[in-house]
Amino acid sequence: MRHLLYIISLLALVCSCDSGDVEEVYQIQTSGRTASLTASVSQWEPLPAGYNLSLAAYPVSGQYASSQRVLSASDVKDGRLRVVLSGIADTTNTVELSVTNVLRKRVLTLLSVDVSAYEPKDTIRIECPLTRFSHYASIQKGVFDAACIRCHGEGAQAARDLYLTENQSEAMLVDVISKSHPDIKRVASGNPEESLLHQILAEGGENILHVNHVEILHRLGVDTDLLRTFIDHWIKSLAP
Ligand code: HEC
Repeated sequence: MRHLLYIISLLALVCSCDSGDVEEVYQIQTSGRTASLTASVSQWEPLPAGYNLSLAAYPVSGQYASSQRVLSASDVKDGRLRVVLSGIADTTNTVELSVTNVLRKRVLTLLSVDVSAYEPKDTIRIECPLTRFSHYASIQKGVFDAACIRCHGEGAQAARDLYLTENQSEAMLVDVISKSHPDIKRVASGNPEESLLHQILAEGGENILHVNHVEILHRLGVDTDLLRTFIDHWIKSLAP
């Protein structure tokens, strides 16, 4: 009898271990993955109202973040930015440092990592090479670096002597007369509509230059209307 009791209690122990395992697996599936982003910060300026700089998770070909962690000045301590996004859904394709609007829709991407490159149980650790965080720095990285500098300054030449590379772009654009259309400025401070940059990126601006810049903008794969508005906000913010 004693033996039988022993066997029964042993069985109970084995069973409870099993259910413990099941629970653990279940927890991993529901709690999701975790990503952390770190960066050394040399400039931190908040984005204009209506936009967030976010560590965000996106599903395949999705424009809306399934989850995001909005970055703020309080995440920067002693020149280091540290943020963590947990509960990342299994359907996530990329984790990005991106500008999002109030509906969590992607405006532009500053940095993107493919989640499948990481072991499922590992934290997705991202050391971000960017040091400047501002409205203009976002445009530099998410638009100029991503879509423009290959013709405007990255190689030996810059089309129309317009360098859109970091540290040069702003001085080359703001209140500088256009070389192709000398009656207008490349960017007219405070006035998007009178800026060539705005005109060549707007729908209908395809033929203003010999190169179709609207198409170049579309290739970024984001909502171009949102992106144009974000660029226009920057032009408006410049004092005339
Ligand atoms: C495939 C090469 C190419 C890419 C990529 C490109 N451009 Fe250009 N861009 C040109 C060429 C060529 C011209 C001159 C066209 C002309 O004068 O008709 C030009 C002219 C311009 C001008 C007018 C300069 C002036 O002084 O008149 C602006 C502004 C400009 N590009 C901005 C951009 C921006 C912003 C991007 C990225 C979204 C971009 N370009 C991407 C080739 C390119």
